[in-house]
Amino acid sequence: MQLTYHENPHALHVGTMPNRSYYVPCASEEEALRRERTASSRLQLLSGTWAFRYFDSVLDLPEDIFAQPLCTDAIPVPAVWQNHGYDRHQYTNVRFPFPYDPPHVPAENPCGLYERQFELPDDGMRRYLNFEGVDSCMYVWVNRRFVGYSQVAHSTSEFDITDFTAPGTNTLTVLVLKWCDGSYFEDQDKLRTSGIFRDVYILRRPSGHLRDYFVHTAPAEGGAWDVRVETEWLGEAGVVKAVLRDAEGREIARGDSAAGMIELRVDRPELWNAERPYLYTLLLFAGDEVIRERVGLRRICIDHETVYINGQAVKFRGTNRHDSDPVLGPAVGVPEMARDLTIMKQHNINAIRTSHYPNSPLFSRLCDEMGFYLIDEADTECHGVIYSHGEPTREAYNELAEDPEYAEAILDRAQRLVQRDKNRPCVVIWSMGNEAGHGVNFDACLKWTKEYDPGRLTHYERASFPPEGREINREHLDLYSRMYPPLAEMEKYFTENTVRKPYVLCEYIHAMGNGPGDAEDYFQLFDRHPESCGGFVWEWCDHSVYMGRTADGRKKYFYGGDFGEFPHDGNFCMDGLVYPDRTPHTGLKEYKNVIRPLRVQAVDLEKGVFRARNFLDFTQAGDRLTLRYEIRQRGEAVYCGDIPAADLAIPPHGEKEFRIAYPEGLHGRFAVYFESALAKDMGWAPAGHVTGYELLGEQDAPAPAAREGSGEMTVTETARQIVVRGSGFRYAYSRQRAAFDSMTADGVTLLEKPMELNIWRAPTDNDRNIRLTWEKWGYDRAIPRAYETKVEEFEGCVKITTQFSVGALCVPNSVRGTVAWTIRENGAVRAEFDVKKNPDAPMLPRFGVRMFLPRAMRDVTYFGYGPYESYIDKRRASYQGLFRADVDALHEDYIKPQENGSHWGCQLLQVRGPEGGVQVTGEEFSFNASPYTQEELTNKAHNFELEKSGCTVLCVDYVQNGIGSNSCGPELEEKYRLDRDFRFAFDFLPMEG
Ligand code: GAL
Ligand code: MG
Repeated sequence: MQLTYHENPHALHVGTMPNRSYYVPCASEEEALRRERTASSRLQLLSGTWAFRYFDSVLDLPEDIFAQPLCTDAIPVPAVWQNHGYDRHQYTNVRFPFPYDPPHVPAENPCGLYERQFELPDDGMRRYLNFEGVDSCMYVWVNRRFVGYSQVAHSTSEFDITDFTAPGTNTLTVLVLKWCDGSYFEDQDKLRTSGIFRDVYILRRPSGHLRDYFVHTAPAEGGAWDVRVETEWLGEAGVVKAVLRDAEGREIARGDSAAGMIELRVDRPELWNAERPYLYTLLLFAGDEVIRERVGLRRICIDHETVYINGQAVKFRGTNRHDSDPVLGPAVGVPEMARDLTIMKQHNINAIRTSHYPNSPLFSRLCDEMGFYLIDEADTECHGVIYSHGEPTREAYNELAEDPEYAEAILDRAQRLVQRDKNRPCVVIWSMGNEAGHGVNFDACLKWTKEYDPGRLTHYERASFPPEGREINREHLDLYSRMYPPLAEMEKYFTENTVRKPYVLCEYIHAMGNGPGDAEDYFQLFDRHPESCGGFVWEWCDHSVYMGRTADGRKKYFYGGDFGEFPHDGNFCMDGLVYPDRTPHTGLKEYKNVIRPLRVQAVDLEKGVFRARNFLDFTQAGDRLTLRYEIRQRGEAVYCGDIPAADLAIPPHGEKEFRIAYPEGLHGRFAVYFESALAKDMGWAPAGHVTGYELLGEQDAPAPAAREGSGEMTVTETARQIVVRGSGFRYAYSRQRAAFDSMTADGVTLLEKPMELNIWRAPTDNDRNIRLTWEKWGYDRAIPRAYETKVEEFEGCVKITTQFSVGALCVPNSVRGTVAWTIRENGAVRAEFDVKKNPDAPMLPRFGVRMFLPRAMRDVTYFGYGPYESYIDKRRASYQGLFRADVDALHEDYIKPQENGSHWGCQLLQVRGPEGGVQVTGEEFSFNASPYTQEELTNKAHNFELEKSGCTVLCVDYVQNGIGSNSCGPELEEKYRLDRDFRFAFDFLPMEG
């Protein structure tokens, strides 16, 4: 058998129909008005179980694939075969999983042969076979006759099979190859999967029919809007009659195509936007077909480097999203897509970049209905080209982008995107792809796109890095786009303002693992500059493959390298705001609160004067939100109330002052907690759903527990220890390690193992770069040592002062300092550290002490930043409060274990069990209480492998290094680094159970 197209970049599609917008023709208005496409009697869905056979190599196919029945297995369509036991999974980011040899792919090319039968009526109609997504390419036969070939995995291919079919039973055979020349342009950072992964169906249509249409909407005089529909027929042209109805089904305009363009006028228009996605219904009556289209009235434009939607300056509070599911892979259906969108809505997200390919045509329809702005991206990425000369180089990056051999292939991908989705109001920006270098081939895409559809903005991030010696060609490019720049660099762009384009971050704040930090800093920067139109978090979900449960019932999620593949990029695919099962990461909660729709600021807290700012773009705050407050003292609400609706009558982007009448007799320091919530049911969340919160003001910490006890203390010294005994306690201090070896109080052992000075943390994914430096400096195997120790006895206390350092084998000390431990008669211990960091040493992961408390001490109460894990630069989902949790619940279960669950800004901490506990108080410390040790979290590759330590591992820290987003983003901002000398003090007290 000769398969001649899949290594030929000039044979992209053979036997396919020209591109058109996505629509489903129906036989009647009644059918058209039903939402599911299966309601159309003209659409015959072929999804379901197909006969199947997988071959490790296409060379193993017999010469005549029809000589004998080959498809002896069965597989669901849509699906990818790797999820059904064939071939194997592979996760690679940049590197191509085959030799760099375009347009050639490995001769031993795995493939899947698919077959199914379908029945056709004797109706004399044309039959079109549609594939919405096949990875990577397909050869198609009907009734053993070759129909055609197509590629571009995430785009629709339509074949006219009229002449290949007959009434009655027909057989469809599809050969899907794992790789084709198109694979060089589908090097997206994801699990690489293959097969027919989106729906397949046949459309039955009259011999002459409407082929394509393009809906344009624009404001007209006197506040009216025009809806203009360009139409194109196949075969002899007919007249299209059009009816436009409002959301209630009332007809508001009608017209036809007799004079060419259909012109409809909407006199009292309801505009479409992400907050209020108002859709009209357009019915197109064309011959004996009826097509239902949804129309949104919206205009996007740029004025003074600012992006406007319907006259309002808008910022994208966005996320990148891949089609990805731990069970279905990329073969996600409407329920999975709708679930993602619902969660996004619940977290204040208003925009999506369909990274890095067009999603199912049903996805953008859902976005129209639910209200999202889309950057719709072409199925183009050839990142691996950077290796085309061996070591990655900047020149190599542009090689395919500049090569005339691939001009057609690259343009095809942009055209297929634009043609298919051109009628979607949610699509406001066309993206030419991702990380495919830049050059003439992309200039051509931008030109074609902008000329074909001047009504939308164009985007291509790599255009910001043109080939050496060439200026950026901005003729057809509307936005200046970047990913992961440091804040200072962005600030410079706005100050210098030489580019004169709106600035979009198509990717920022990399959400991998424990992260992202800095979300608020970017938000503030966007807010300061009208030329910033916001950004899109990288990325929505962790990509993984669900592998069932462990014997003890834990879910097993696999990532790169777990399938024995080469090359792979490990857990770099676990970088989402949600876990594979869509449980939100704390990073999503962080992002949600940063992009909350309403923010409150104190004007005069004492007098109860506040200012609320409405960040909604199109909605008066009070129409969407309620706002309530609580006055809090020592972490408890002492008074609460609602802000009256009149105070929330704040126009979009407006501000308004309001006043709270405090209750009589409010004494002492207090803070005011504000919480906004939905005023009414929105479909994606019920009334009362919390949209954001903040705490303003300073409260005192709750009163700490006290311990009775007085009288004589005795001190005994040996070469190794200093033992201090007092009323009911015995503490043994290590002269070698500057911390306590053991502590007991009232017969309870407080430490299961010696206390340690601690600078290590289980590296987060965002520590992946600095980690290498940390390990060079031995931070992961730090050895504290003490020099002189002085013991002084005063009235009612004993003070032990030690000079110490922390170092490691082979390298110098990273810190030196003095610690004074003062032990009082009642067993209280005050620790005072004076620490000098070695300026040559890298920033510290943390600084503090680690204690192994008995397992029974697991009831944790703290006054600090909670209830979610919090760090100096990742704490916007949390606020200062009094929280209580079981130690297990403080663990945030990242699939790839790492530092998690710390709490920043604490003043009080109690960890108790039935027999006794410990209390820590201080001015502002961080703590981490966990069933796992940092070594366990460092060494295990998956959460399901974690073993509990048998203790409550308590770290009390001065602070931890910030979180940042350096797994892909810039280095940690200096202000969040632990890279200085400091003093740190806390008080420790044994407690009753
Ligand atoms: C970006 C790329 C994304 C993803 C990310 C790292 O450079 O566009 O596709 O690879 O890095 O997670
Ligand atoms: Mg990439």
